[in-house]
Amino acid sequence: MRLIIKKDKNQAGEYIAKYLKDRIKGFVPTPTRPYLVLGLPTGSSPLPIYKLLVEYHKAGELSFKHVATFNMDEYLGLDKKHPFSYHYFMHENLFNHIDIDHRNVHILNGMASDATVECENYEKTIESYGGIDIFLGGMGVDGHIAFNEPGSSLASRTRLKSLTRETILVNSRFFDNVSQVPTQALTVGVGTILDAREVILIVTGHSKAMALYKTIEEGVSHMWTASALQMHKRAMIICDEEAIDEL
Ligand code: GLP
Repeated sequence: MRLIIKKDKNQAGEYIAKYLKDRIKGFVPTPTRPYLVLGLPTGSSPLPIYKLLVEYHKAGELSFKHVATFNMDEYLGLDKKHPFSYHYFMHENLFNHIDIDHRNVHILNGMASDATVECENYEKTIESYGGIDIFLGGMGVDGHIAFNEPGSSLASRTRLKSLTRETILVNSRFFDNVSQVPTQALTVGVGTILDAREVILIVTGHSKAMALYKTIEEGVSHMWTASALQMHKRAMIICDEEAIDEL
């Protein structure tokens, strides 16, 4: 696993945005692999990345015509148009500002009548695109990736997960109050993330310092699900100086 330390969250974001730009520009579509397939996170950490990707696009430097995306997770019970849904977040911060074909944008449906079927179909759709090339992720303060809370199976696939009290409290900053935060979410599994050809995590801020320590300096543990990246042959963590306080 590579660890790259940048001064602050904006420089960490810039490193990843430039990396993705190079990968997207260097992608050569073929009849069997017409799209570079990205896994994408929500949260505050990836915002500097999305801002720059939009800027590159607006400056005419980057096209997303040959990009397909799969988001990591979505709250159960929130409609696509709900301002706190991840669907809304992704469109506001990225998809509405770039030239991606919206048929290639995939986000779990938090209002699906059958969550199990929705999750199984998501896995099948990923497969139909030939798998995920680069899975970009953030990390929770308890070391979760996507919504794979402590105790998740490291072989897990896309499924419905109950959120921990800690995650609900931490994520309540995006809502008007804590009672509005859904208690369950649909999320890709740790196994789904590990299947990607490459995984990149952005980890910024002092609140993530303990989780970063657990992720890279202790053993692989289902109690700190990001530590599963130790088993991936091409994983990279980009962090800022605040996040390395416990290393
Ligand atoms: C949520 C998301 C995760 C994200 C995490 C960290 O729990 N499900 O995918 O990585 O928040 O968010 P932030 O970047 O705001 O700290």
